[in-house]
Amino acid sequence: MANLEIDFCGLKFKNPVLVASIEPTNSPEVIRECVDAGAGGMIIKTLTDIEDMARLTQNSKYAILNEKNEPINGKVNKNFVFFSRSGYSGTHYKEWVPYLKELRQYAEDRGSHLIGSAGGKSVQGWVDICRTIEDAGIKLIELNFGCPHPAMMPGVHGGSMIGQDPDVAAEVTRAVTEAVGIPVFVKLTPDQSKPVEVARAVMQAGAAAVTATNRHTGFVVDIETGTPRLGGPAGIGGTWVKPLSLRWVNKIFTELGGVPISGSNGIYDHKDIVEFIMTGARTVQIGSILMLKGIKYLPKVIRGLDEFMDSHGYADIESMLGIASRRSVVDYSEQFKKPRMHSEVKAETCKNPKCTICIQTCFYDALAQVDGRVGMLHQNCIGCELCTQTCPFDSIAMHTTSEQLRQTAEYFSIPEKIFQEGKFEKPFDRGISLSRVAD
Ligand SMILES: Cc1cc2nc3c(=O)[nH]c(=O)nc-3n(C[C@H](O)[C@H](O)[C@H](O)COP(=O)(O)O)c2cc1C
Repeated sequence: MANLEIDFCGLKFKNPVLVASIEPTNSPEVIRECVDAGAGGMIIKTLTDIEDMARLTQNSKYAILNEKNEPINGKVNKNFVFFSRSGYSGTHYKEWVPYLKELRQYAEDRGSHLIGSAGGKSVQGWVDICRTIEDAGIKLIELNFGCPHPAMMPGVHGGSMIGQDPDVAAEVTRAVTEAVGIPVFVKLTPDQSKPVEVARAVMQAGAAAVTATNRHTGFVVDIETGTPRLGGPAGIGGTWVKPLSLRWVNKIFTELGGVPISGSNGIYDHKDIVEFIMTGARTVQIGSILMLKGIKYLPKVIRGLDEFMDSHGYADIESMLGIASRRSVVDYSEQFKKPRMHSEVKAETCKNPKCTICIQTCFYDALAQVDGRVGMLHQNCIGCELCTQTCPFDSIAMHTTSEQLRQTAEYFSIPEKIFQEGKFEKPFDRGISLSRVAD
C-alpha cells in the first residue's frame, strides 16, 4: 500500500482527499459520514454573517446535465455539467460552535480533520467568523474568495468579488491572519484573468496556501423553451472544467515556487486526483460528484488513488507532487527546438478513397486526394498530429523528418511539382526518399 499521508499547512492528513465546502458539509451527520468514509478532511460549508447568502442556500437550485445539454435522469457520467445556485451555510456561524467542537473531535479521533470556511460581510465580519472557528478548536481555515454568487446579489460584497482584486484579497487575508493563530488558506476564483497575482498577494499577506479554484459562473439555455436554465447565470462545473483548473494549479505552482495548493474544480475519480497532484496540488477537494453519487462513492476514489500509486510505483504523494508541472514547457518557443515530424499514411489499413477524413482535417494542405489515394506533401506537413487523431483506422503514423530530408533541396520543391502534376505515385513507400520518387 502506498503512503497517502501528506502535510498541508502544517497539519498531517492521512490522505490528500478533502471533501470540499459544499452541501454535504452543511450537515453534522453527513460530515460524520465523510469521516467514516475515510476522507482526509472535510471543509465545512462556508460560515457567514451575510443573511442573503444564508437565505440563498435555502433557495438552492440544481440543473445537472449530460454532454448533450439534457437533464441526466439518474445517469451521471464523467461528462456531467453541474449548473447550480446556492449560498453559504444557512445556519448562523455562532450556532455552529457546538457542532464544530464535537465534529472536530470526531474527525481527529479517526485521523481526519475538520477545516473551517469563512465568508464575511465586512473585514471585521471575516475576523469575527475566523476567531469563532479558531475558538471552537479548528486548526485550519479556508477563506472563500471564490464563490461566484455574491456578484449576483445586490448589496452583498464577497466571494469572487474579493478574489478578483489582489489588494482587497490581501487586506482581508492580512486582517484574518493577524487575528488568528491558526493557518489560513485562500480559495481563489477562476472568474478572472489573474489568479496568480491574487495568490501572490494573499501569500504575502500571510496565507499558508491557496485553493485553485472555486467554480466559474455560467449561462445555460434550454433550447426547447428558449429560456435560461435556472433563470439566468449560476455556478457551473464538472470534469470538463478540470483542464482550466489545472492550468491555474500549474501556473501558481510554477510561478510561486511550489507554494502549497489545494486543487479543486473538476474531480470525478481518482485519475483526476492524480492529475491535480501531478500538477502541484498537495491536497484535492472533491465536491459536486459526492452530491450526485453520495458519500459512499468516496472510499472508491481513495482506494483508486492508492491502487494507482501502487501500480505505477509511486511510494508516496510527494513523489507525484508537481511532476507534470516540472516537465511542462514554460515558453512555447521551446517547441521550436524539438525535431521536425511529418505524418505518413499506412497503405495497408487506410480506407481511402472511401474515407477522406485526414484530408478534410489537414489544414496545411499536406494531405490530398491524388490518383485514388492519400497523397502526402511532406514539405507542407508541420507535424501537428491532428490527422493521427481524426483517422478512425489508426492508419497514420508520425516520423521524425530526418535532417537529410529537410535539407535536401528536392524535398521542398520536387514533391510539390509532382503533386501539382498529379504524379505522386508512391506516396506510402517511405523506404525511399522523395527525391528518388521524383527520379
Ligand atoms: C452546490 C454547491 C455549493 C457550494 N458551496 C460552496 C461553499 O459554501 N463554499 C465554498 O467555498 N465552495 C462552495 N462550492 C464550491 C465547491 O467547494 C468546489 O470548490 C467546487 O464545487 C468544485 O469542485 P467539484 O468539481 O469537485 O465540485 C459549492 C459548489 C456547489 C456545486
